Amino acid sequence: MYDFHYIDEELNKLQSLNLKRELKTIITANGPWVELSSGQRVLQFASNSYLGLTNHPDLINATKAAVTKYGVGSTGSRLLSGTLELHTVLEDNIALFQKSEGALFFTSGYAANVGVVSSLLSPQDAVYSDELNHASIIDGIRLSGAHKFVYNHNDIGELEKLAQSNEGKYNRSFLVTDSVFGMNGDLAKLSEIAKVTEKYKIIPIVDEAHAIGVFGAQGAGYVSELKMEHMFPIRIGTCSKAVGVEGSFCVAPKNVIELLKNKARTFMFSTSSSPGVVGTVLKAIELVAESDWRREKLWQNAKKLHEGLSEIYKLKIAPMQTPIIIIFFNSIEEALKVSKRLFEECHIWAPPIRPPSVKTPLIRLSPISTHSEEDIDYVIKAFHYIAKDLQPSSLNAGV
Ligand SMILES: Cc1ncc(COP(=O)(O)O)c(C=O)c1O
Repeated sequence: MYDFHYIDEELNKLQSLNLKRELKTIITANGPWVELSSGQRVLQFASNSYLGLTNHPDLINATKAAVTKYGVGSTGSRLLSGTLELHTVLEDNIALFQKSEGALFFTSGYAANVGVVSSLLSPQDAVYSDELNHASIIDGIRLSGAHKFVYNHNDIGELEKLAQSNEGKYNRSFLVTDSVFGMNGDLAKLSEIAKVTEKYKIIPIVDEAHAIGVFGAQGAGYVSELKMEHMFPIRIGTCSKAVGVEGSFCVAPKNVIELLKNKARTFMFSTSSSPGVVGTVLKAIELVAESDWRREKLWQNAKKLHEGLSEIYKLKIAPMQTPIIIIFFNSIEEALKVSKRLFEECHIWAPPIRPPSVKTPLIRLSPISTHSEEDIDYVIKAFHYIAKDLQPSSLNAGV
């Protein structure tokens, strides 16, 4: 009745550009090793559960306790029947954890970025955005209707030039950036950004998705590590990565939080997180704060992996700024081929990341704190084996 041929054409086009993605189905708990529905047992380097908390018994018990007391669903949006005591206690705890006046919990990092950015920016405003910002930031900006100025990744000189040439032209100005670029494994230059935002009166919004649990005292994030909370008072953090669960928060001055409750459409028009999720995140934030030894192990694993891979002369490894280890390739085909060989011949799950998520095709390895030394050694050995067949031209890749 309906003609869906255009869908096949679109899929074929993606396939021909090497951009068609396939899902892999996991049939075990998501730890350092996982078993897939294909029967393969693979060493997992694609997970964002940096502290390995996803299967922690205290968190499983927290889920059970919350579900037993409150049931499995929240029954409505936060503004209707969906605000439980658990939500408000969690928000108070997050505000303390983040040394902020207020906090608001969202169902996901995607929902938080879209909701926060689209509520605070208006079509009369300008917004500066790093070209490698997460898709949810980009979507929030689009929805806001603000005039968007995308600067080259981490190019603060370009940012300043844009800010200078826009002075006086817009109602207000904002800057949105990831603090850790999750797919590129590097850090935003927050100290330099702060100088520009202060000089040109630009309101910054920082997404700490990959920094929460990994950087700073008690894992409070990269802004906290730099002790720059006062310069970056509006921050978003996800509970889906190092925190090990799901959901997300925005921390901000109290009036900003109050406005978000009344304006952020992803908060207002969507059922709130279920008691199981909220009760688990509540406990997980506590564990993250107590997890210095897990953070130490995470960084040890990442350093060992980075050092081992750096010795393989045919690989172009990015300098290590975060525990996310990046190997650049000259072409999407080469990144795909290496990832496929790692998976099929060595049983290592290391995803290829392609433009537009990044500028240069790469393989992203995310060691977690529950990987053993043997796991890391095994990955290094596998790369030695596969790199033998690479062209030395791979050395030209990277940014
Ligand atoms: C920087 C950044 N922000 C936001 C998100 C979205 O978070 P969530 O997966 O909790 O929706 C991600 C997820 O990959 C991310 O990397």
